[in-house]
Amino acid sequence: MKKNYFKVEIVLPRVKLSRFTIKMISEKYIKWMNTSEIIEFTEQRFVKNTKIKIYNYIKDKVKSKNEFLYTINIKDKKKEWAHVGNIKIGPINFIHKTAEIGYFIGDKSLHRKGIATSAIREICKLAKNKFKLKKIIASVYANNLPSKKVLIKNSFKLEGILKKQFVFKKKRVDKLIFGKVL
Ligand SMILES: CC(C)(COP(=O)(O)OP(=O)(O)OC[C@H]1O[C@@H](n2cnc3c(N)ncnc32)[C@H](O)[C@@H]1OP(=O)(O)O)[C@@H](O)C(=O)NCCC(=O)NCCS
Repeated sequence: MKKNYFKVEIVLPRVKLSRFTIKMISEKYIKWMNTSEIIEFTEQRFVKNTKIKIYNYIKDKVKSKNEFLYTINIKDKKKEWAHVGNIKIGPINFIHKTAEIGYFIGDKSLHRKGIATSAIREICKLAKNKFKLKKIIASVYANNLPSKKVLIKNSFKLEGILKKQFVFKKKRVDKLIFGKVL
């Protein structure tokens, strides 16, 4: 077969997803959940994420039968897995075999390294192989460029636009709905 020497291979960082358990709540995690740049495109920005609220949220997700929260982990300098963000799948509709995903990378210095792209790739595999889903969707603020990019890089397609659905810094912005058939 003729080799394509001009094809550029994008090497994504290796990530490991682990189910979030109560003991994974750390000071670092609580700080992320109260950092405006990390939560500015989520509903979290409207609440003060106290330790007890976070604890109850995680407890709820641990018990849930249709929402599954995972930590995103990468190998640190000591070659140990380090928690750098979260990715959630759910609520899952087991009848229609669909679910929504949401994600963030908590440390801004780790942005733009392909970590979320890898994590979404992994959650798509879990959705298909573990949860036997046929379709995933993700909702994004129209002005959240990195979030749109990570979905497009994972072959999600723009399926819908809800005009001026969200309030963002005193302006109204569209809600984009991306989908991927698995
Ligand atoms: C969205 C988010 C998860 C992306 O994580 P990440 O690990 O940095 O993503 P990746 O590195 O895999 O890819 C990001 C892409 O966006 C691009 N990007 C990042 N910031 C950008 C900016 N300000 N303007 C334009 N492009 C930008 C990167 O260059 C990259 O695209 P490329 O590979 O074509 O260069 C991260 O920005 C984040 O946690 N944001 C806050 C929480 C959030 O918005 N979550 C999504 C809610 S829907």
